[in-house]
Amino acid sequence: MKKKWIIYLLLIVALTIISILIIFIVLKNNRDNNVNLDDTYMLDKKEDTSSEDVSKISESPKYIDNVIIVNKSYPLPRDFVPDNLVSINERVQVTSETYEAFELLQSDAIALGLNIYASSGYRSYDIQNDIYNNYVNLDGQEIADTYSARAGYSEHQTGLAIDLNTIDMSFDGTDESEFVKNNCYKYGFVIRYPKAKEDITGYMYEPWHIRYVGNVLAEKLYNNGDWITFEEYFNIDSKYE
Ligand code: DAL
Ligand code: ZN
Repeated sequence: MKKKWIIYLLLIVALTIISILIIFIVLKNNRDNNVNLDDTYMLDKKEDTSSEDVSKISESPKYIDNVIIVNKSYPLPRDFVPDNLVSINERVQVTSETYEAFELLQSDAIALGLNIYASSGYRSYDIQNDIYNNYVNLDGQEIADTYSARAGYSEHQTGLAIDLNTIDMSFDGTDESEFVKNNCYKYGFVIRYPKAKEDITGYMYEPWHIRYVGNVLAEKLYNNGDWITFEEYFNIDSKYE
């Protein structure tokens, strides 16, 4: 009889140990699963974040020393619109700092009997697209690429560029053109596509296209009349991929 009780007792102890072991194993598995879920979630989050960063980098404007760079190598995002556009006249808008600099240049020119006016300023991606495609239809893509920027690749989208007076070579050599060439740096502007730098800027000479960069950089690029391009100064390319 006593032997029977000992066997029952041993069985109860064994069942208790087995139950405790089973409970321990189940709890451990649950905990491990939760850790794995968290790790996976963190991995997913890390992957998502890095891909967001990459797309932001490739779709952001290029800045060097706080100067926005736009050329054949550095396009703007399609939806880039400067946030401080103001009107120079009924048709032309530029950024406020460009406007203030242009007003000074224009009034000093008027004092000398010169007539300088803005013919084109800020152009949206879509407007530039229409302009460029129009030139491609007229001259073919290869020639159009020497004087017109593809949509997203035009400085006009920054609101910092102005085309002055007549936008063709009849402007070159006029008193107004000479004044601009020799003095625009004093107001913070540069001739962005100087003569004989076509292979560097990617565009033919445009005496009418000025770009606001501020007085300090403008004077450096003016270089006593021997213009240095953005591409040379910042050591960058201007080539479509
Ligand atoms: N004519 C200049 C290159 C432009 O289209 O922005
Ligand atoms: Zn222009």
